[in-house]
Amino acid sequence: MLVFAHRGASADAPENTLEAFELAFTQGAHGIEFDTYQHSEGIVVFHDRHLARTTNGHGKLLDTPLQLLRELNAGNHNQIPVLSEVFSITPKTVWCNIEVKYLHDAKTWVEAVKADIWKSDISLDKVIVSSFNHHWLKEIKRHWPEVCLGALTATYSLDVTLDAKGLNARNIHVALDIVSEAFIEEAHSAGFIVLVYTVDEPEDMKMLKSWGADGIFTNKPSLAIKTIT
Ligand code: G3P
Ligand code: MG
Repeated sequence: MLVFAHRGASADAPENTLEAFELAFTQGAHGIEFDTYQHSEGIVVFHDRHLARTTNGHGKLLDTPLQLLRELNAGNHNQIPVLSEVFSITPKTVWCNIEVKYLHDAKTWVEAVKADIWKSDISLDKVIVSSFNHHWLKEIKRHWPEVCLGALTATYSLDVTLDAKGLNARNIHVALDIVSEAFIEEAHSAGFIVLVYTVDEPEDMKMLKSWGADGIFTNKPSLAIKTIT
């Protein structure tokens, strides 16, 4: 079962920072998950629409010029990273799950992500693009047919695989609260990989392993590696 560090090793370092990603690699995570916004000046790695919870700034991320964003303290004096910086520190053996929290234009987004991959050591076969907004995923896939998609869901739909099939996704990323053994079986029989978020309790990690989940997103990769691998 794969262990993805959710927003990096975010139980032990400020979320979505280079420090949290470095720590995830040290702790042996198989992958990192991080959240991104297509800001007018670049792809910014950040979870919330507003700055206040995780930085010393205030207001909306998308309304703030990149230079000002970069002057903020995202915890332990880390800067808010841009996508190319995350790629530049990621070993090529580690999976990168780019979660799209805001997309303005799929074509320029795809061009920018491809350029950032090309400048780094990572390869496309270790990249997963996910989002709760399946319309954005569809647009991204249209401009980038070979990219691996993860259809995020917090809903146990009447047809579990409908959107993932429509998107030609490889993965379904499902919330711990609603996943079940039957959900995983149904997704597996349709050929999808199932990753579950956000799993920090050893009991849940063991349960998901027994159900055959392919991986988890956890804020505690070190604990997960110890518990389930
Ligand atoms: O990608 C899994 C998980 O990160 C989705 O929820 O809100 O933590 O980005 P959130
Ligand atoms: Mg996320």
